[in-house]
Amino acid sequence: MTASIAQLDGEALRARLAGELARTRERSRLLTEAVDDDDLTAQHSPIMSPLVWDLAHIGNQEELWLVRDVGGREPVRQDIDNLYDAFMHARRDRVALPLLPPAEARTYVGQVREKVLDILATTPLEGRRLVDRGFAFGMILQHEQQHDETMAATHQLRDGTPVLHAPPPPRPAQVAGLPAEVLIPAGAFSMGTDTEPWALDNERPAYRVHTEAFWIDTTPVTNGAYTAFLDGGGYDDPRWWTPEGWAHNREAGLVAPQFWLRDGGRWLRRRFGVVEPIPADEPVQHVCWYEADAYARWLGRRLPTEAEWEKAARHDPAADRSRRFPWGDEDPTPAHANLGQRHLQPAPAGSYPAGASAYGVRQLIGDVWEWTSSGFRPYPGFGAFPYREYSEVFFGGDYRVLRGGSWATDGAAARATFRNWDHPIRRQIFAGFRCARDARPGDAG
Ligand code: AVJ
Ligand code: FE
Repeated sequence: MTASIAQLDGEALRARLAGELARTRERSRLLTEAVDDDDLTAQHSPIMSPLVWDLAHIGNQEELWLVRDVGGREPVRQDIDNLYDAFMHARRDRVALPLLPPAEARTYVGQVREKVLDILATTPLEGRRLVDRGFAFGMILQHEQQHDETMAATHQLRDGTPVLHAPPPPRPAQVAGLPAEVLIPAGAFSMGTDTEPWALDNERPAYRVHTEAFWIDTTPVTNGAYTAFLDGGGYDDPRWWTPEGWAHNREAGLVAPQFWLRDGGRWLRRRFGVVEPIPADEPVQHVCWYEADAYARWLGRRLPTEAEWEKAARHDPAADRSRRFPWGDEDPTPAHANLGQRHLQPAPAGSYPAGASAYGVRQLIGDVWEWTSSGFRPYPGFGAFPYREYSEVFFGGDYRVLRGGSWATDGAAARATFRNWDHPIRRQIFAGFRCARDARPGDAG
């Protein structure tokens, strides 16, 4: 788990891929075995699929890319491709489809995996771009991990007795003395990547981006800080909201982050079926882009652009190069970041000093996805690979980019170039934000 994948080849790369596939499947299994068959096939929210759809869709994508394309083998089940094509059926309609029942879905994903392990053992991981350095296998295991995060969000939306449990994150070491924000000087840095073997098409190619000097928070915005915005009447004051945000606020009746409950004079939250006090020092999550943007404006600040976020996360000014992760090029360990559903909540603001970036910014990776001010657009020189429906069809749509991954994101998909996107009204995802502001002439860090 320590060598970065760019340094692996041959048998070591195959062993790494097999290990990651198994580890990821273990998480999918846990998320789908935690509930009974009624729960698995039920629709817990109109914006989510039934869990049993995610499970068979994971297997179907694996079959399409690894069994049929990479392996050149006969279909395992050709009859179900349409059912599990995300573009053919909206999430709210999937519950009514003739989906594989839970036992059949489990058998199916197991049959596909058995063939895939055979293909992994026998396919050269070079020569063809699709398999070079294990790309297709890396893409498919990241796809499963993304659906594991989606399934975690479905679990969070589900009513009923709690079924997911995990220990809380460790308390942070010393946070006293951590400045609230740091200055990132003006200048160019290298955004995106040409060298990360499993980077997806939208992270490529690398290119130079200039940013003006700006200040950025060293930690995500906390529940405590966000509560001051609520208590100050921020949700009822159109001055802080964009016109679209204000319209959405009124129409949706927004009063607080999703899953917050009013209890007399205080706020509680429901988290995986448990109602609990809201930890003031934990990064706020389940806010939509409009809420994040309004909070920042209320403070006279703003969301960072995607380029500012990536510069604060990756740029090493001493070496004038971009790192794979804020802390360097080594893959994440539990000392660097809160990832992989190891804990089912963000860690207190200021945690993970070992994961700080060159500029001293913390918790950029893991804890909560961070909304940026940027829309989802291709980098100059973008080429769709291996299919247009991963990224290209979403460019220029009503989406905002989120960066850094959450506590629910797997470490294999949490590199600092990874780009996520969602509609600005969405808040079932594990998303929060941090604030930025323009520097003024004469500002010095
Ligand atoms: C990159 C998280 C926006 O879940 O819609 C899963 C990932 N693409 N299956 C999504 C994805 C195809 C995607 N996001
Ligand atoms: Fe998918």
